[in-house]
Amino acid sequence: MELWGGRFREGIDRRLADFSRSIEIDAALADDDLVGSIAHVHGLAAAGLLTPDEGAALVAGLEGLRGEVAAGTLSWDPALEDVHLNLEAALASRIGPLAGRLHTGRSRNDQVATDLRLWARRAVDALDGAILAMERALVGLAERDGDAVLPGTTHIQPAQPILLGHHLLAYVEMLERDRGRLADARRRLNVSPLGSGALAGAGFPLDREAIAVELGFDGPSANSLDAVSDRDFVVELLAALALGMVHLSRLAEELTWWSNPRFGFVRLSDSFSTGSSMMPNKKNPDPAELVRGRTGSVIGSLTGVLAMLKGLPLGYQRDLQEDKAPLFEAVGTFAASLDVLTGLLGTITIDRERMRAATDEGYITATAVADALVRSGLPFRVAHRVVGGLVAAAEAAGVGLAALDDTTIAAALNAAGDPAATRLAAEPEAPGRLRAAADVDAALASCDVIGGTAPVRVTAAIAAARGRLGG
Ligand code: ARG
Repeated sequence: MELWGGRFREGIDRRLADFSRSIEIDAALADDDLVGSIAHVHGLAAAGLLTPDEGAALVAGLEGLRGEVAAGTLSWDPALEDVHLNLEAALASRIGPLAGRLHTGRSRNDQVATDLRLWARRAVDALDGAILAMERALVGLAERDGDAVLPGTTHIQPAQPILLGHHLLAYVEMLERDRGRLADARRRLNVSPLGSGALAGAGFPLDREAIAVELGFDGPSANSLDAVSDRDFVVELLAALALGMVHLSRLAEELTWWSNPRFGFVRLSDSFSTGSSMMPNKKNPDPAELVRGRTGSVIGSLTGVLAMLKGLPLGYQRDLQEDKAPLFEAVGTFAASLDVLTGLLGTITIDRERMRAATDEGYITATAVADALVRSGLPFRVAHRVVGGLVAAAEAAGVGLAALDDTTIAAALNAAGDPAATRLAAEPEAPGRLRAAADVDAALASCDVIGGTAPVRVTAAIAAARGRLGG
């Protein structure tokens, strides 16, 4: 018989039982449910609703079930709908009718809200460690190969040279924001719904503060109706997870291109690559592709829960049961993606020569040359035009900017029709200065601002990140 069956004359239709059952999913809440129940028993005992002996016997029974859950020996009865009813029935089978006092002043509505918050808190803490591990892997790679130079791009076209360390630390910044968003969501979710009852508040003088403290919450929820209806924390977490996955997906996208032999910037280790069933030559970056692909499902989890919530009136609605699968799946996907990328980054080989060679294409020091002309007194717009002319000349001659001859450079300066440019054209050492500015290392060094790619800045940023993240 169902634990709620008092008013019913007929048993539940098998189709509805199958349709509404959630034990396959919410069994993951078992330990949180038991921990919440133990705190509730303490609350009931403190309120005089249980004798000390009854309280102790209930707690002992619940602790016993925690042991069974941890050992994986507790079996779930699908006929019992969900984790809450399963555990209550299991308690009754272990300690007898006293178990019938456990649900005093409590509903599955405040119970499930409590369980899910406890679960979410643990999930955030575990994810924080996983994000940190990936950040350390990025910093480790930056320490090893961060001084490798590659063409930074905009519009996927060669733009300006940057250090690999600079590129990797951009992802550290993104992941740090992800940690911050999760920590922020954790702060807001850390309140205790217990004592809210079904919707109106428990009908007994429970010390909700003490129960909250026992469960490590910052305090009790302020409104019982909100407490049983609120799934903002699920949405906040999913939003943070979706954005975190988007960050991983962007890195994954870069790694797939970089491992293409046309780029040849990186080689994934055999242990983080897969082969083709037909083409013996293939070595595929599947982990990166799967991270990119699964980002779609995590975004879907976020939009799914938002859509589930949008039409719900206050109070518990059964729709809310649909919050768990997307949250659990998204947390699992993010954790696994972080793990696999951490492993991939720890075993990747950087081809510094290929990266460096790619900086020969696309005249990527043109901006540095224009900046040098500005330092020689030209207005930036004029400098931009002059260097544009030099790029065209270099392209026509099939050489780099650093190989342009004095005559070509003087001609481009004179063609600008600007007095400062004309003056500069007359300076004998001007072409040499310009060629020196076209050097990749000079271009890198010139970006010497906070957050810039100059080697001194990047070295300091890597050291600062290591200091912050440890490991
Ligand atoms: N399995 C339900 C859920 O996950 C638990 C709460 C059920 N409450 C109820 N009144 N039916 O949301």
